[in-house]
Amino acid sequence: MPDVTIRDRTMGTYRRAAPLFVSGEGAWMHDAEGRRFLDLISGIGANSLGHGHPRLAAALADQAGTLGHISNLYRHGAGEELSERLCELTCMEAVFFSNSGSEANEAALKLARKHHATTGSPERQHFVALERGFHGRTFGSLSVTANAAYRTPFGEGLSAKFLEPDDIGALEAALAEGPAAFIMEPIQGEGGVQPLDADYVAAARELCTQTGTVMIADEVQCGGGRTGTFLAGAHYGLAPDVVTLAKPIGAGLPIGATLARGPYARTLVPGDHGSTFGGGPFACRAALCVLDELDGGLQQQVIDRGAALAAALDGLVARFDVLTERRGLGLMQGVVAPGRAAEITGRLFDAGVLTCTAQGDVVRFLPPYILTPEDLAEGLSRFERVLTDLPTDPS
Ligand SMILES: Cc1ncc(COP(=O)(O)O)c(C=O)c1O
Repeated sequence: MPDVTIRDRTMGTYRRAAPLFVSGEGAWMHDAEGRRFLDLISGIGANSLGHGHPRLAAALADQAGTLGHISNLYRHGAGEELSERLCELTCMEAVFFSNSGSEANEAALKLARKHHATTGSPERQHFVALERGFHGRTFGSLSVTANAAYRTPFGEGLSAKFLEPDDIGALEAALAEGPAAFIMEPIQGEGGVQPLDADYVAAARELCTQTGTVMIADEVQCGGGRTGTFLAGAHYGLAPDVVTLAKPIGAGLPIGATLARGPYARTLVPGDHGSTFGGGPFACRAALCVLDELDGGLQQQVIDRGAALAAALDGLVARFDVLTERRGLGLMQGVVAPGRAAEITGRLFDAGVLTCTAQGDVVRFLPPYILTPEDLAEGLSRFERVLTDLPTDPS
């Protein structure tokens, strides 16, 4: 029997839900009192292979029994294989490994500034980002995160300008001012599961090229196979200069990847940047396992399950007035419930289904890729019941 004594002295940065989770299997999590929860949020988009995945467990056990952490001073096979495979999948030439999405973006921002510093434009220091964009909590990634409430308690960060998504004129004017980089999520996650407009993405690519602005695609949440293609940018035919990945590529182990092409792949040189843990054998083995699973049929499963989820959510939007819209691609989906999203995610939790909100009004679904048709049917049936029982007025 696990020890379930509560001794929580973690800083109060999260309002954690009450259950103490002790185990999981597939898309299900079990708490200490034996309750089962269907995990439709997968640790905020990270736990792509679900809980207790046998091949992931075997790979990590094998790694634990052979080579542990060795730092970036030495070579190891899993890191080299992963770098090759990620570059191939993203059409990039080189990767920097770190431990999180924030760090992946941090490296991208540093890379952009160094690019200008070494190509005769050291004055190009500020960044352009999008309203509702989320890029992380470290100082650099926080500086380009739109939500002022996240930034203001911490004083001044890097200089950044925030633009309305899909406004090509505003982007043209902002890039004419000579920023270091333009950073955006092809599908905004925290910002409300909001895909950018295809014309806007194409224009942004063109404008970045014309103005010599480094184009950074943050695919920390939408990338790694979640939307049915390895990069969400593929839905747009996008070729950014730098792309960042994290969350699902590690199947729950901490990994971040900053991938770059062309001259940007050679910008960072020894001494410029680093990480003690980044790209360690355990995280790389986990990521290789995710890539193997995607190749072995899981990517197709994401496409199939994503289409079924989207169709079912469309059906619920049509039936229940409280829902006004569905947005998203593949297994990154959101339904808009103006003024009611937090209440609905709370009621889903009480019904044993884990989801979370995005941008206040959106109920967000980021299920693990291994979700079975039966899991999906169960989740949708519980969601339907929650919507049927929802009082007319907000509680
Ligand atoms: C698009 C995007 N970028 C960056 C981050 C930050 O990632 P992490 O929490 O791993 O630092 C997140 C996290 O939600 C994200 O959604």
